[in-house]
Amino acid sequence: MHILAIETSCDETAIALVEATGGLRSPRFRVKKNIISSQVSTHRPYGGVVPNLAKREHLKNLPIVFKKLVPKPYTLHPSILAVTVGPGLEPALWTGIEFAKVLHRKHFPQTKLVGVNHLEGHLSSFLLGQLGAASFPAVSLIASGGHTILLCMSSLAEWRKLGETRDDAAGEAFDKVARLLGLPYPGGPEIERLARRGDPAAIPFPRPMLHAKSYDFSFSGLKTAVLYYLRDQGVSHWGGWMREVAQRTLNPRPQTLVANVAASFQAAAIDVLVLKTIRAARACRAKSIMLSGGVAANQCLRQTLRRETKKIGAAFLSAAPRFQGDNAAMIAVAGYLAHLRGARRRLAAQGNLNL
Ligand code: KG4
Ligand code: ZN
Repeated sequence: MHILAIETSCDETAIALVEATGGLRSPRFRVKKNIISSQVSTHRPYGGVVPNLAKREHLKNLPIVFKKLVPKPYTLHPSILAVTVGPGLEPALWTGIEFAKVLHRKHFPQTKLVGVNHLEGHLSSFLLGQLGAASFPAVSLIASGGHTILLCMSSLAEWRKLGETRDDAAGEAFDKVARLLGLPYPGGPEIERLARRGDPAAIPFPRPMLHAKSYDFSFSGLKTAVLYYLRDQGVSHWGGWMREVAQRTLNPRPQTLVANVAASFQAAAIDVLVLKTIRAARACRAKSIMLSGGVAANQCLRQTLRRETKKIGAAFLSAAPRFQGDNAAMIAVAGYLAHLRGARRRLAAQGNLNL
C-alpha cells in the first residue's frame, strides 16, 4: 500500500510517499518520494526556531511541497494519510494536521487518516535503511533536538523506556555549545565540521551521569563546563571572536583552540551516549542496537556506536543520515506500523506527546 505522510512538528515542511508491504514481523518500505523544505535560513538570525515563524512558513510551503510531490492528485490513491500530531511546536503541528484534513476532504476521502507520534517516526526510521528483519530484543537510542531517550524494544509494537534526559537533549547541547562558539543554528553539523580539525582529548570535559546506575542522561552540566572553560580563557565577546575564527580570519592558534573545544565537547557527549546505550544493550541482552534522531546524522557518533555494537555481537541498525533529521518518510513508516497495530491517535496537536 501507499502512504502519504506529512511532517511539520518543527522547522522542516516535509511530505513523503512511501510504499509499504508486510506485517509487523517484517515490514518493508520503499521511499518513492521524499521532499523536505527546510526553514533553517528563516530561523537562523534568531539563533533557534521561532514557533510563529515556523507556522507561517509551513502554511506557505505545504501547498508548494505537495504540488511538487503530487502534481496530479487524482492519479494517486494512497491507503493511508499519515500526519505528525506531536510532540513539537503546537502552532506548527496544527498546520500539518489541518492540511492533512483538507487533502483528505478534497482529494483522498477513501484514505485512512492516521495521527503519528513524531518520536515513533524516529524510533522506526531504521526500517528505511534495512533489508532484513530486525532481531529483538533491541535497544534503541533516539537523540534529537528535543529528546534523548533509551528504549528496550521486544518487537516493533512493544517497548519500554529505560531512561531519558533530565534536562537538555543531546541535540540541544550541540546547539547551545555552538552558540557559545558563535556558530550558527543548527549547531550540530557546525560542531561536527569544526571537530574534525580538533583534538577530542585536548580538554577533559565531564561525562555527566556516565557512572550513574540509571539510564538517564544530563547534558546541561556539560554545556556549562564548556561555558566556564571559555570564560577561563579570558576572552570577552567570545561569540563574535569565534565567528571570526569560524570564518578563518584569525591566526591558526585560536582556530586550533576552537576546534579543540568542539572536538572535546563532541567526544564527551558521544562517550555518554554510546556507553549508556551499550550498557543497556548488555543488560537487555539486545540482538540489535538502533540509532535515530537528528544527532544520529553525526558520523562520529554513528561510527563509534557501530564499532561498539559490533564488539558485543549485536547488529547496528540506522537509516541513512538524510532520514535522521525531521522528514516525512519516517512518519509514513510509523503511520503504517500504527495502522498494523490498530493504534488510534487524536487528530489534534499534542505538543508534549511522549513515547
Ligand atoms: O530530529 P531533529 O531533526 O529534530 C527534532 O526532532 O528535534 O534533530 C535536530 C537536532 C538539532 O539539535 C541539531 O543540531 C542536531 O539534531 N544535529 C546534529 C547533527 N545534525 C543535526 N547533532 C550533531 N551532529 C550532527 N551532524
Ligand atoms: Zn525529530
